[in-house]
Amino acid sequence: MYGPPRCPVLRMARKAPAPGSSFELFAQAMLDHWLGKRARFEFERDDGRRGRSNLAGYFEDAREWPRVERTALALARGRILDVGCGPGRHALYLQRKGFDVVGIDPSSTQCALARVRGVGQVFEGSVQRLPRGLGTFDTFLMMGNNLGLAGDLPRMRRFLRDLGRIARPRARLIGHTRIPGWWVEDHFAYVKRNVLRGRPSGLLRLRGRYKGRAGDWFDLLLVTPEELATLARDTGWDLVRVVAEDGYPNGDYIGILDRGSGKASV
Ligand SMILES: C[S@@+](CC[C@H](N)C(=O)[O-])C[C@H]1O[C@@H](n2cnc3c(N)ncnc32)[C@H](O)[C@@H]1O
Repeated sequence: MYGPPRCPVLRMARKAPAPGSSFELFAQAMLDHWLGKRARFEFERDDGRRGRSNLAGYFEDAREWPRVERTALALARGRILDVGCGPGRHALYLQRKGFDVVGIDPSSTQCALARVRGVGQVFEGSVQRLPRGLGTFDTFLMMGNNLGLAGDLPRMRRFLRDLGRIARPRARLIGHTRIPGWWVEDHFAYVKRNVLRGRPSGLLRLRGRYKGRAGDWFDLLLVTPEELATLARDTGWDLVRVVAEDGYPNGDYIGILDRGSGKASV
C-alpha cells in the first residue's frame, strides 16, 4: 500500500527513450567495435522482427565494398556533403581522392568517431536539420540505406526540396535504398500490413537495441525506383540512373538523382 504515488502519464514520460537514442546506441556500438570490444547491435522492426547489424562493414576499406558502391562513388563530383556519414568510410575515401568533403551526422558520437578517423570536416546535422552556413554542394551522398531517413513520403518530399536550397546548379544526389520486400517471405506480411493501413509499402518503423537497452522508434522509407523517380520529379530532381549490379542483396540499389537535368531515365 505504501510507496510513491502512481501516475501512469509520468511513468510513460520517464520511460520513453529520447529522440535520436536509437542512433546514439548504434554509434556507441560502432565506437565499441572500433575500440576492439565485442559489440552486438540489432534493429528491431515494430512487428518484433530483429536483424543484427554488420558493424565491421562500416569500417571497411573501399576494396571490400560491394562493387556497386565504388561504381556509385565514381559518379561523385565537386564539393560533397555526406549526409549521415557515420564513422566516415565514404568521406575518407573521397577525401583521399582530393575531394572537398563535409560529413554531417545527428549523433555526436558518430561525429567524434569520424573526426578521430581522419574526416577533416564533420558537423552535427541531419536530414531534418540540414546545415546552414556550410555553403552549397555539387554532390549529396546518402549511403548505408540512408536515402529514406526522412521517414514517410511527405517528409521525404520536404527533405528533397530542402536539399535544393543548398544544392549548386546541376547538383547530384547519390542515395542507397532498397525495394520494399514484397517477394521476400520474411517481409511480405509487413509490407501487406502497411498497404492495408494505407501506409507506403516500404515504410519501416524501427528501433535500435544495444546492451539490453532499446532506443526510440523511428521511420525509414524504402522505395522502388519508380517511386523514387516520382519523388524526384515532384521536387526538382531527376532519377537519371539506378546502380544495382551484383554484390548487393535484398533488392538494394543506389539511385542517382540530378538536379534540373531534364533527363530522367527511369
Ligand atoms: C546505417 S549508418 C550509415 C553510415 C554511413 N553513411 C555508411 O554507409 O557507412 C546511418 C547513419 O545515419 C545517421 N542518421 C540517423 N538519423 C539521421 C538523420 N535523420 N539524418 C541524417 N543522418 C542520420 C546515423 O547516426 C548513422 O551514422
